[in-house]
Amino acid sequence: MSPQRLLFVCLGNICRSPAAEGVFLHLVAREGLGDQFVVDSAGTGSWHVGKPADRRMLAAAEKRGIALPSRARQIEAADLGRFDRILTMDNDNLAAVQALAPGTEQALIEPITRHCRQFGSLEVPDPYYGGEDGFEQVLDLLEDACGGLLDRLRPR
Ligand code: 4NP
Repeated sequence: MSPQRLLFVCLGNICRSPAAEGVFLHLVAREGLGDQFVVDSAGTGSWHVGKPADRRMLAAAEKRGIALPSRARQIEAADLGRFDRILTMDNDNLAAVQALAPGTEQALIEPITRHCRQFGSLEVPDPYYGGEDGFEQVLDLLEDACGGLLDRLRPR
C-alpha cells in the first residue's frame, strides 16, 4: 500500500507544526510503521523560512525524547495536491489553508485537535510569545492528538 501523506500546519512552522511532525514521527517509529507514512510540516507565514524549530520547542521536545528535525517552509497551493491530509493547529491556520484552493477536490483539511481523546481543546495555542509552560501544553496536546490520529490511520 502506498504511504499516507500528512502535512502539519501552523503559522510560523517553528513551534507547533514541527512539534506535531516530530511527535507523529516518534510514535510511528516506535511502532515500526515508518514506511507507511510521509510526514512534513509548513507554516502559513514566511518569516522563519529555512530556520530550525524554536529552541524552546526543541528543548521541551528533547526532554520527552522527541527530535524535531524540520526546517521551516511556507505552505503553497500545490501542497493540497501532494498530501492526503492537512492538519492545522488553530482556526487561523485552518482558514488560511482552506483559502489556498477553495472548492477543489484535494487533501482533507482538518484541525489536529479533532483527534484528541484526552483534551477537549479546539485549538493548539500559539506558544511563541508566552512562557515555558506553553510549550509543555503544546506537547501534551500534540501527544494526545497524534496518538488519536495514528490510531485512526494505522493500517489494519
Ligand atoms: P508557530 O509559532 O506558528 O507555532 O510556529 C509562531 C512562531 C512565530 C511567530 C508566531 C507564531 N511569529 O510571530 O514570528
